[in-house]
Amino acid sequence: MSSTDCILQVSAISLSFKGVKAINELSFDVRRGEICALIGPNGAGKSSLLNVLNGVYRFDAGAIVFNQQAFKRIDPLSAARRGIGRTFQNNALFKKMSVIDNILTGLSRHMRVSFIEQALGLPRGRREAEAFRQRAQGILEFLELQAQRDVLVGNLSYGLQKRVELGRALIAEPSLLLLDEPMAGMNAEEKQEMARFIADINRDLGTTVVLIEHDMSVVMGLSDHVVVLDYGRKVGDGTPAQVQANPEVIAAYLGVVH
Ligand SMILES: Nc1ncnc2c1ncn2[C@@H]1O[C@H](COP(=O)(O)OP(=O)(O)O)[C@@H](O)[C@H]1O
Ligand SMILES: [Mg+2]
Repeated sequence: MSSTDCILQVSAISLSFKGVKAINELSFDVRRGEICALIGPNGAGKSSLLNVLNGVYRFDAGAIVFNQQAFKRIDPLSAARRGIGRTFQNNALFKKMSVIDNILTGLSRHMRVSFIEQALGLPRGRREAEAFRQRAQGILEFLELQAQRDVLVGNLSYGLQKRVELGRALIAEPSLLLLDEPMAGMNAEEKQEMARFIADINRDLGTTVVLIEHDMSVVMGLSDHVVVLDYGRKVGDGTPAQVQANPEVIAAYLGVVH
């Protein structure tokens, strides 16, 4: 793949916690515009990898190339500014705030500061604040959340809360969206809806997606590319069909019930 086709290159990344190698010399590429699924048993290092990619954890060795720029180190704010957005495995919303206000908290810190300053009043500032509100409104429509706009997040169903989280990541207009188990704990219908929204984001907004997901039918239906981790190492990398047919992957993961 040429370097312009590749939005993200993970090169020999390692990360340890007190001697435990959570990620072990991991390398893989993500093509611009694809949906890439990260799969593997619990403790394989999937969430740690997302934390490395958006600068929450500092990796010990290796490099990340994002949009043809190499990083030895990245912090969450600069990751957000460069267009890396994410959601978390455990929902981190403000339960006593409305849906639209939760979505607005997804503006990166520097945008949010100006948002608050603007909300306080200058005419030009008020126009910019209004522009952010319009952007949030657009996301509510895209995610079919208009009816819930002013509802407190704590009063929503679990499935809708996960959708608000997705909206909060989208408002910063990421070019790479990292989703940590966006369908965990959902019933079949909620999963199907979430899969549809992820596919819509990928297709209509052109967002590249890296998602962690355990449900293999979801992974196989949604993704273009699958990377399999086990004990911090890569044990599979290919199309869904290739990965499903790989004996090492079957042994490490697919043969095991989770
Ligand atoms: N903040 C942390 N401190 C110590 N150990 C951690 C931390 N985060 C993850 N780990 C360890 O790293 C390994 C990988 O965990 P994780 O990335 O959460 O796996 P997964 O998301 O694939 O289930 C596990 O052994 C886990 O206990
Ligand atoms: Mg995890």
